[in-house]
Amino acid sequence: MADRPLTMFCGPKPGPRGGYYIPQLKTVGFVAPTPQYNDLRLEYPPVLPGRGKAILGDAVEASRALSADLFYLDPPYNQHSYLGNYHVWETLVRWDNPETYGIAQKRIDVRDRKSPFNSKREAKQAMLSLFSNIKARHLVVSFNNEGFFAAKEIEEMLKGWGYVSRLTRQHQRYVGARIGIYNPQGEKVGQISHTENHEFLFVATHSRNVYELLKGQDSKQESDPKAHSDSVAKG
Ligand SMILES: C[S@@+](CC[C@H](N)C(=O)[O-])C[C@H]1O[C@@H](n2cnc3c(N)ncnc32)[C@H](O)[C@@H]1O
Repeated sequence: MADRPLTMFCGPKPGPRGGYYIPQLKTVGFVAPTPQYNDLRLEYPPVLPGRGKAILGDAVEASRALSADLFYLDPPYNQHSYLGNYHVWETLVRWDNPETYGIAQKRIDVRDRKSPFNSKREAKQAMLSLFSNIKARHLVVSFNNEGFFAAKEIEEMLKGWGYVSRLTRQHQRYVGARIGIYNPQGEKVGQISHTENHEFLFVATHSRNVYELLKGQDSKQESDPKAHSDSVAKG
């Protein structure tokens, strides 16, 4: 456990996801115009005062032994694994010089280290197991309207957990949807169907007060019926 977490940046305008394209260095399909060629740098991000604790492990397993006032879960939304996309980060952190494959030089273990949360077939059971392990007063889960599950399905999964509210916000889709998709020659290919989606926060709570406070907070639900089209897209 490190005393202070480090954040890695590579873009001119830093953001924690600035390095998304790093895995595709020189590559296939998905080439960002510039950021990938900038130097990597490590910075300490602003953190809350006090000591924290980091646990590396499978969420379903780790959650069995934990309890807290509030859990926030940000599970994978679809089949795209962070390990595959952020393998350079993974290697920098592990500093293990792994065997690699392909043009993007992905770690060979990307092929074997699979998560049930990235499998359409297994994700529901993984979510249910995780939810049932959580010992807390409040549980917050993020998801969007383009993942494996429609909002109503997640609410259904959380049903046994307490009072459930949903907060919806319009959001820019993943960066590829904004800058376009490129082929290995650097030519823009394909059509981007849309650039925005809806991000959901599901708040499950044992507190009637919290539930009451959240009522009416979901501006999208009130003003934009399309926010709940809940389409399940392909990733
Ligand atoms: C949507 S991302 C959330 C990332 C994080 N909130 C962030 O902003 O960087 C989902 C994360 O869950 C991790 N993950 C996937 N399966 C997991 C599992 N079984 N146990 C723990 N983490 C897992 C992925 O590696 C990925 O980092």
